[in-house]
Amino acid sequence: MMRREITCLFAFNAHITLTLPPSLPPSVRSSLPGDIASNPSNFRAALAAARRRFHATFIVAGNHDLWVSSALAEEGVVDSIDKLAWVHKVAAEEDEDGREDGEQKSSSSSSSSGSSSSSRNKRGKIYTGPVLLHLPPHLSLPPSLLLLVPLLSWYHPSWDTEPDLPAEILAELYKGRPSFEQCWADFRYCKWPEEVVRGEGGREGGREEWVSTTTRNRGIAEWFAKQNEGFLEDARVRVETREGGREGGRKVVVISFSHFLPREELCPEKRFLIEPMLTKVIGSRPLREQVERLKPDLHLFGHTHIPLDIEVGGIRYLQWPLGSVGEQGRQTGEMSLKGPVVVFDSKGGEGGREGGLQGEVPTRWGAHYKEEGRDVLKTELAPWVKMYWNRR
Ligand SMILES: [Fe+2]
Repeated sequence: MMRREITCLFAFNAHITLTLPPSLPPSVRSSLPGDIASNPSNFRAALAAARRRFHATFIVAGNHDLWVSSALAEEGVVDSIDKLAWVHKVAAEEDEDGREDGEQKSSSSSSSSGSSSSSRNKRGKIYTGPVLLHLPPHLSLPPSLLLLVPLLSWYHPSWDTEPDLPAEILAELYKGRPSFEQCWADFRYCKWPEEVVRGEGGREGGREEWVSTTTRNRGIAEWFAKQNEGFLEDARVRVETREGGREGGRKVVVISFSHFLPREELCPEKRFLIEPMLTKVIGSRPLREQVERLKPDLHLFGHTHIPLDIEVGGIRYLQWPLGSVGEQGRQTGEMSLKGPVVVFDSKGGEGGREGGLQGEVPTRWGAHYKEEGRDVLKTELAPWVKMYWNRR
């Protein structure tokens, strides 16, 4: 039996998972672009809640999910690569041999860390790899295919090529305070094997090569992108072989998602950011290259918790962060009140929605960039940034 909707949840966390609005129908499918929980027991609880509430949940690991502690030492998790494997293992737990009608794993979904895992337990399944959904015709909608593609990624400072704020402004902000590197929790809680940091180029691979906002090393970002290649090649073939968005007479819709940002335009300029150094730890150039190769109809992302629906370079990007409990009183208040946003509806009708891929979601930053261009040369801090730093 086909399900009705694909609902996407962004910047998902355990609290949100356990308190999803009761109005959500159980047939909803959800997409969770990372940062589900750093604590192993919370992570398990979040996925269990997702299984209870949704017929299918599509996840991709975020930075918090890859924090390492002694909690999983007995399970052999000693670094963040082990933790990624643990995340995929937990997603695949309670797996039963069975598949919902109309669902089909993408044929190359068996690649290691990008593998497609399904969990059933008479409830929902958790997927960590690409899934192709066959949608039957409905009313005026022709039969169609929906390809969901999670893209693993990690950030590297050299992704940010825009000018930094002047050194004197940064010095004033951080005067008498710990540096950004000292505060960024990933630098304490993520652990990477030296060979991953070193990458294929044989660069320096020590801890100092990644605990830095100035390094040119992008070994970790490249390692993560490499994990996508097996199934991305398959997805690309599917996309390339569709003619005018069609394959075998059926319309093909491609939705990809990542935790981190493919493009700089997906984050407001530094002068608007409460933490202007954030741009050093949010994006990946190898991820951007993969998204642009895939050419999805929609790419979902997370991490910055800044809502935005924008088209750049012919690809639509959307972040709709429900936020942490603390953030719900601030920048994600609107999202937490409105709840998850529907991005694809296989039937339409409910709430006056048309079927298929849903249109633009109004966001403050989306409206801003329609009115004003991006100007990375301006350095006057936004009023809310000044207010924040003056209060500290
Ligand atoms: Fe994150």
